Amino acid sequence: MRQVNPSEAMQQKFPEWIVMVVSRDANGQANVMPAGWGMICSGSPLYVATAIGYTRYTYKCIHETGEFVFSWAGKGQEELVTQTGTSSGSDINKFEEFNIAWSAPAAINVPLLDGAAASLECKLVHEYASGDHAIFVGEVVAAHVPDEPIRNLVNFRGHYAVAQPAEK
Ligand SMILES: Cc1cc2nc3c(=O)[nH]c(=O)nc-3n(C[C@H](O)[C@H](O)[C@H](O)COP(=O)(O)O)c2cc1C
Repeated sequence: MRQVNPSEAMQQKFPEWIVMVVSRDANGQANVMPAGWGMICSGSPLYVATAIGYTRYTYKCIHETGEFVFSWAGKGQEELVTQTGTSSGSDINKFEEFNIAWSAPAAINVPLLDGAAASLECKLVHEYASGDHAIFVGEVVAAHVPDEPIRNLVNFRGHYAVAQPAEK
């Protein structure tokens, strides 16, 4: 065992799932960003949480409107992860700029991303301050999967790969 800088040990967190966090600002503009920092944090009621930096446009959207969609990125969304993770809704309308296909939600006013592995519509129940990020906890009020299953995309230190079980 050797003691290292925490940033070196953190490299061992990969692969990390990629959550596409979809939201809408108070003027109605929809936005999406990828987040690695997310989790399931209650089973019944079903709650999910994601840590969103205070500088993200997504922070402003969820803080103002209290709604978001928590989607696991799907195979085929590699380019979308890069596009939406390197641009901000404060500068552009990502849905228009990247021609993002979406479907209507069932319970909240935030679009569902076509091509995601699964999407959870969430209503904000808690916001916690956590250093330079806010942790948003949302109650899942509706859930969606594609007609044909799509495998999850995972992040290996900035390289995206399709998650699948090891062969026996
Ligand atoms: C794979 C990946 C994971 C990321 N994870 C997070 C995260 O967990 N929390 C966060 O605040 N930003 C995260 N980011 C950065 C945001 O996605 C990025 O800053 C984005 O441009 C913010 O968009 P917005 O300003 O429109 O909200 C991640 C980026 C990538 C590419």
